[in-house]
Amino acid sequence: MTGNTSYDSTRPVERPRVVLRSRRAARGGVREHGPMRAIRLVTPGDAAALADVLQASREFLAPWEPVRGEEYFTESGQRAMIEVALARHEQGTDLPCVITGEAGQVAGRINLSQIVRGPFESCSLGYWVGAAHGGRGLASRAVADIVAAAFGPLRLHRIQAGTLVHNVRSRRVLERNGFARFGLAPRYLSIAGQWQDHVLYQRLRDTGSAAG
Ligand SMILES: CC(C)(COP(=O)(O)OP(=O)(O)OC[C@H]1O[C@@H](n2cnc3c(N)ncnc32)[C@H](O)[C@@H]1OP(=O)(O)O)[C@@H](O)C(=O)NCCC(=O)NCCS
Repeated sequence: MTGNTSYDSTRPVERPRVVLRSRRAARGGVREHGPMRAIRLVTPGDAAALADVLQASREFLAPWEPVRGEEYFTESGQRAMIEVALARHEQGTDLPCVITGEAGQVAGRINLSQIVRGPFESCSLGYWVGAAHGGRGLASRAVADIVAAAFGPLRLHRIQAGTLVHNVRSRRVLERNGFARFGLAPRYLSIAGQWQDHVLYQRLRDTGSAAG
C-alpha cells in the first residue's frame, strides 16, 4: 500500500500518553468514580499485591486463562511482566492498568493491548478480577473506565474483546458496556491448555455499540 493509505503498524505513533489521573486524584494516583476507584496505570510497586491476588485466585482463574508457569504467580514474575507492559505503554501499543477495589486495594488487571494506528485505530481488551473481589461490579466499572480512556485521550476508533463461549460473566460485562458480538472464532486461543472457540465483541467510538 502506498500514499495516505499506507498501513505500517510498526512505525512510531504520535499519541497522547494516558496517565489515568484526575486532578483530584493526582495526589493518590487513582481515578475517582464517586465512591469507587476503578482503574489506574499499573506500577512495578503493584507486583507483590498482584502476586498475592493471583496466588489466592489460581484455581478460580485457571479455566479462563492460558496455562501459566510458576513464575507468573511470584512477585518477581509480576514485576517482569509489568516492566514489559510499561515499556509497551511508552511505545504506545498498550495501556496496562490495575483494577482497584472499594478501599483502593489491587483487585485485578485490565489492559488495552495491540493498539494499532492508521486506518485501523483499534486495540484489544483483556481483564481479570480476583476471586475474592468478584460479583461487585468491579470488572464492569473497569471496562467503562478503559473504554473512556480509549475513546477519549487515546482517540481510538474500535476496541475488540474475545471471550470463551461459556464465560457468561465476562460476556455480561462486555454487553452491559455496549460491546456487540460480531463473530465466533473457532479454536481462537489456547485457554487452560486447549484451543477454544471464542465469541468476538467490538465497541466502536461514538456509537455505544458495534452497530456503527
Ligand atoms: C469475568 C470477570 C472479569 C467478571 O468480574 P466481576 O468483577 O465479577 O464482574 P461484574 O461484577 O462487573 O459483573 C459480572 C456480571 O456477571 C453476572 N454473573 C455472575 N455470575 C454469573 C453467572 N453464573 N451466570 C450469569 N451471569 C453471572 C453478574 O450478575 C454481573 O452482571 P450484572 O452486573 O448485570 O448483574 C471475573 O469473573 C474474572 O476475572 N473471571 C476470570 C477471568 C476472565 O474470565 N477474564 C475475562 C476473559 S474474556
